[in-house]
Amino acid sequence: MCGIVGILGKGPVAAQLVDSLKRLEYRGYDSAGVATLDGGRILRRRAEGKLRNLEASLEKTPLGGAIGIGHTRWATHGAPTEANAHPHATERVAVVHNGIIENFRELRAELEAAGAVFQSQTDTEVVAHLVSKALEAGASPRAAVSQALGRLKGAFALAFIFAGEDDLIIGARRGSPLAIGHGEGENFLGSDAIALAPFTDAVTYLEDGDWVALTREGVEIFDETGAPAPRAAVRAAAAAIVVDKGNHRHFMAKEIAEQPEVVGHTLACFIDMAAGRIRLPDGADVDFSKLDRLAISACGTAYYAGLVARYWFEKFARLPVDIDIASEFRYREPPLSSGGLALVISQSGETADTLATLRHCRAQGMRIGAVVNVPTSTIAREADVVFPTVAGVEVGVASTKAFTCQLSVLAALAVKAGRDRGVLSEDDEAKLVSALVELPRLMAEALRLEPEIERLATTFAKAQDVLYLGRGTSFPIALEGALKLKEISYIHAEGYAAGELKHGPIALVDENVPVVVLAPYDPLFEKTASNMQEVAARGGKIVLVTDGEGPEHAGSAFAVLTLPKAYAFVSPMLYAIPVQLLAYHTAVFMGTDVDQPRNLAKSVTVE
Ligand code: F6R
Repeated sequence: MCGIVGILGKGPVAAQLVDSLKRLEYRGYDSAGVATLDGGRILRRRAEGKLRNLEASLEKTPLGGAIGIGHTRWATHGAPTEANAHPHATERVAVVHNGIIENFRELRAELEAAGAVFQSQTDTEVVAHLVSKALEAGASPRAAVSQALGRLKGAFALAFIFAGEDDLIIGARRGSPLAIGHGEGENFLGSDAIALAPFTDAVTYLEDGDWVALTREGVEIFDETGAPAPRAAVRAAAAAIVVDKGNHRHFMAKEIAEQPEVVGHTLACFIDMAAGRIRLPDGADVDFSKLDRLAISACGTAYYAGLVARYWFEKFARLPVDIDIASEFRYREPPLSSGGLALVISQSGETADTLATLRHCRAQGMRIGAVVNVPTSTIAREADVVFPTVAGVEVGVASTKAFTCQLSVLAALAVKAGRDRGVLSEDDEAKLVSALVELPRLMAEALRLEPEIERLATTFAKAQDVLYLGRGTSFPIALEGALKLKEISYIHAEGYAAGELKHGPIALVDENVPVVVLAPYDPLFEKTASNMQEVAARGGKIVLVTDGEGPEHAGSAFAVLTLPKAYAFVSPMLYAIPVQLLAYHTAVFMGTDVDQPRNLAKSVTVE
């Protein structure tokens, strides 16, 4: 996690560093800092909390210097205090870091024994001391960094400036992403192309193990063996996108509202609208008929998209699916078939556990497909086949539009698999495709429930616990509803398979516990309705989300939210909307930081 940036500029860089960090705040926001060189001396400014605190401090007392590095932090080692904020520095060197130095304890003990005095509890500070020690012993900055890198274990991206070196930034990438931005008489580096967008769209992505020496006139890249490694620059057009809230109060609100549009764009990449058939994007063709099994892996919300997809692949294509949370996948040591297909799902394309799964599957000889939203991300670049979601930049930490776009892509792939494997006829395909084509319109209708949901949120805001129930593909949506509510309102919530409630969790139900029942009026409705009655009999406050004739069976429900009637196939995308809106309005009512909830970060680049 964390975002890093470095600028070798033509004039004062502190404000530019902050501008760039604003675009990286999605990677962490519990403290921020910058370091510059003025008259050859390292100057530092750091602040606890959001970036605006650092910005205010810099406005009050500006920091000079035409070279600098900056950081926005998601704490891994040490509390989010100013002392633990980056950059970490000695008199000779300042460093910013994204990732984890796994062997920092041993290194710290060794450095302290040799006289180093530490100012923070972070793992990063060992890097500053290691480099400083090498510089003191007479090494050049490049040699000092190279020696230090040789001592580090873990996954990281680093950027350094050095006292007295007004024309040098050194960066290194091992595991965590790092991109170079090319300017005219100025050069940049940052965690991603979005960070570099205010300055340039000419970007080079470092490969794993690379390190780079940046001056104003040149960029020299070396691979992990130290050999020069010229890497091509690309035009990062997407990075230039201006990200704003439009007329919404929060990014999350905007992103929920955008769903009909972005799901439409995404589906357009996978459907031949004129023919009513699935048509995969160029270069993304997969023949599912050759597969015995499909392995799916992802984290958080993206994992729930995978859970829904399992129902689809197994039902429509009779293709057995193994699905794992990415952080567990490798430790389960599942037998994997060489030549098989692993599908990873990720909005950011940088999630460390998902990336580790990708690499693990690749090492076992599997082909990798990635459903990914950021086309320039590491996962997109390392996958064999990319199935893009076209959600656009998602800023709100709670994933919304990326989720429904992931579901849309997976739905299209499941239909394709059904055709490839001879399970679905042309007619079946045409019906399922027409359900997908109608989806954006139905999503727009679903969004009209917002005023009703806003009123309901006042009740939810008073709850201590909330349960979400669903059956079939509504079960993962129940999990997603609970996750959304937890992460942005901090209210405890759990999602359950509707039939599982009576095996334990029903003990939690009383008149203070809202129970959201996700029950499309489909062949599973009656069973879920019985589970709902079990809750009602115990005084639970039921909010039934349903469609078609569902409301007629609402009984004593506290509230009913009626979605437009849709083909059961696409109900996960539709039912996602009310649970997102409920979480959003509950959080707004409670006054939490909706777009940047506590303890979280948008891109989780540590395992
Ligand atoms: C929840 C949420 C997270 C992410 C998870 C995976 O709202 O956003 O659970 O879904 O961290 O992130 P990506 O999709 O970037 O791999």
